[in-house]
Amino acid sequence: EKEPVTVLVTGAAGQIGYALVPMIARGMMLGPNQPVILHMLDIEPALEALKGVKMELIDAAFPLLRGVVATTDVVEACKDVNIAVMVGGFPRKEGMERKDVMSKNVSIYKTQASALEEHAAAYCKVLVIANPANTNALILKEFAPSIPEKNITCLTRLDHNRALGQISEKLNVDVSDVKNVIIWGNHSSTQYPDVNHATVATSNGKKHVRELVADDNWLNSEFITTVQQRGGAIIKARKLSSALSAASAACDHIHDWVLGTPKGTWVSMGVYSDGSYGIQPGLIYSFPVTCDKGEWNIVQGLKIDEFSREKMDKTAQELIEEKALANSCL
Ligand code: NAI
Repeated sequence: EKEPVTVLVTGAAGQIGYALVPMIARGMMLGPNQPVILHMLDIEPALEALKGVKMELIDAAFPLLRGVVATTDVVEACKDVNIAVMVGGFPRKEGMERKDVMSKNVSIYKTQASALEEHAAAYCKVLVIANPANTNALILKEFAPSIPEKNITCLTRLDHNRALGQISEKLNVDVSDVKNVIIWGNHSSTQYPDVNHATVATSNGKKHVRELVADDNWLNSEFITTVQQRGGAIIKARKLSSALSAASAACDHIHDWVLGTPKGTWVSMGVYSDGSYGIQPGLIYSFPVTCDKGEWNIVQGLKIDEFSREKMDKTAQELIEEKALANSCL
């Protein structure tokens, strides 16, 4: 039998955490034959709730679950973790300035980065979900210098999946037949959901989404804004932010990163820019990536038209500003 993999979930007593930990324990992140040990971190005010989540995990009698740690001690939480899913963070509250929220998160991600740096297993893979996700990941990278930059990513898979969902609804096709949408840039409303390379598997072979959706106007406006603003629409409807879809996307992200993307397809991940597509190196920016043997690689050579270029640069610009704001909080 395989050795268990240790997965850290921070903010585990929160909404996403509550949806995510059972998915991990059921094998949705690492596969149905991979035993797991869960480390759950939260802060003191949430400790009782966190203990409750641990009780429920035990009560669910998940066959793959080989151990559960529920703690407020960041060192204990980070000890020997192979995969770290960073969901905990400080949310923006009414009346708070962007800078105040950034400053709180910079300090959280600095501390947690240092703990991962010192106590995580070698080659630990990190996924940051908490907002501002790209910039939190960047801070984490700065303060965990021994973790390779290729091991630090942020979640834009939810946006990617939302784009697949919108195309599937529009064309009335199975979502699993839609491939190769792209989310470029920041996990924020400046993100650019791009369908120029997306395809649908049909009974007459593979077709381009642009060919099937004759309505260019929809693709160039409503589709983009719907995906960009979907998070807000969920909050409006649920009075809470997306949780089950975020948890599911987190499983997809790690699953594909560790186990690989199918040939001919890619997914979107927030990763460290190497300058591909003219994006400033040193930003965590969402790109189309393929994954193989536990490594992601940015898909190269896609043709970028003027419409896309402008949107890709706009979201990069926002990330440059966020980075400067984060640096001013250090
Ligand atoms: P939530 O507020 O329900 O849960 C957050 C949890 O983090 C709470 O239990 C809180 O006590 C904990 N926490 C706060 N500071 C912490 C610290 N220093 N260490 C450990 N835990 C800490 O929030 P929810 O809905 O679960 O969302 C979590 C984050 O994910 C938010 O920042 C949200 O904006 C972000 N998000 C990102 C998405 C993405 O696609 N990248 C999608 C949806 C949400």
